[in-house]
Amino acid sequence: MSDLKGQTVLITGGTSGIGKACTELFARSGAKVVTMSIQDEAGQLLAEQLRGEGHDCVFYYGDVSNEQDVKAAIELAVETFGRLDAVHANAGVLRNQKITDLTLDDFHLLINVNLLGAVLTCKHAIPVMQRQGKGCICFTTSVAADIGFPEHALYGASKAAVVALMRSLTTDHSPQGIRFVAVSPGTIDTPMLAASCEGWDQPKEVLYAEVAKKIPVQRMGQPIDVARAVAFLLSDDAGFINGSVVQLEGGTLALPPW
Ligand SMILES: NC(=O)c1ccc[n+]([C@@H]2O[C@H](COP(=O)([O-])OP(=O)(O)OC[C@H]3O[C@@H](n4cnc5c(N)ncnc54)[C@H](O)[C@@H]3O)[C@@H](O)[C@H]2O)c1
Repeated sequence: MSDLKGQTVLITGGTSGIGKACTELFARSGAKVVTMSIQDEAGQLLAEQLRGEGHDCVFYYGDVSNEQDVKAAIELAVETFGRLDAVHANAGVLRNQKITDLTLDDFHLLINVNLLGAVLTCKHAIPVMQRQGKGCICFTTSVAADIGFPEHALYGASKAAVVALMRSLTTDHSPQGIRFVAVSPGTIDTPMLAASCEGWDQPKEVLYAEVAKKIPVQRMGQPIDVARAVAFLLSDDAGFINGSVVQLEGGTLALPPW
């Protein structure tokens, strides 16, 4: 059983969907959690609820594409809990569009949150982990980095870039005791997915049922499916997993191409 008890963990995008499930699971497993996002009210409520249950959790309101915010979130973790053992670089946004309809605003948002956010998180977390001689950073990428989803060109490119980032950091910094891993979710039932169904001609429930039938396990993923995998990857039990992407897609990638 993986164990994050006593570990200090920063989760970006930690107040909705996958990140919220991670915040809850890690705090309830005894980790000391700093959860960061741009959802102020939801973040304050989540941290208060977890503290009310007797767990360690603080919320930091900040934008991962803003270097000062990222630096401050990491400093908060170190000042509050004394160290930073693990980071889940999870904050992300989705914008669907054909490349011919792409606006520069879409481009900057996708790249700034999905890629620059991960870059800044690493830039400021790695020096802390180097001083400790130990640490682990897990990224949330997407199967859209590997599969040509319709109207996901730039989103998929932003997530593929995160995989390349993760692999290169492994070469540069694992000799100093830092592991880098990624989870690549398929279709996970979160507010991001629900928002992507808006404007379709069928209700969300019908669309979800259709999608579930196409996944070999016959269901969509839940945020807790991802949180359990991330908890393991961040724990010392996963100490020899490094530079790897764990696919969390219920077997979709194993399907034959017909
Ligand atoms: N839901 C899926 O099917 C799916 C599949 C593959 C990958 N992902 C990835 O998983 C991650 C989590 O997505 P989710 O589905 O839980 O979405 P979500 O919209 O429920 O949560 C996203 C979180 O990121 C935060 N966030 C957004 N912009 C931010 C910013 N600039 N600074 C800080 N925080 C910011 C939001 O406040 C929120 O807490 C994302 O990186 C997403 O791309 C999701």
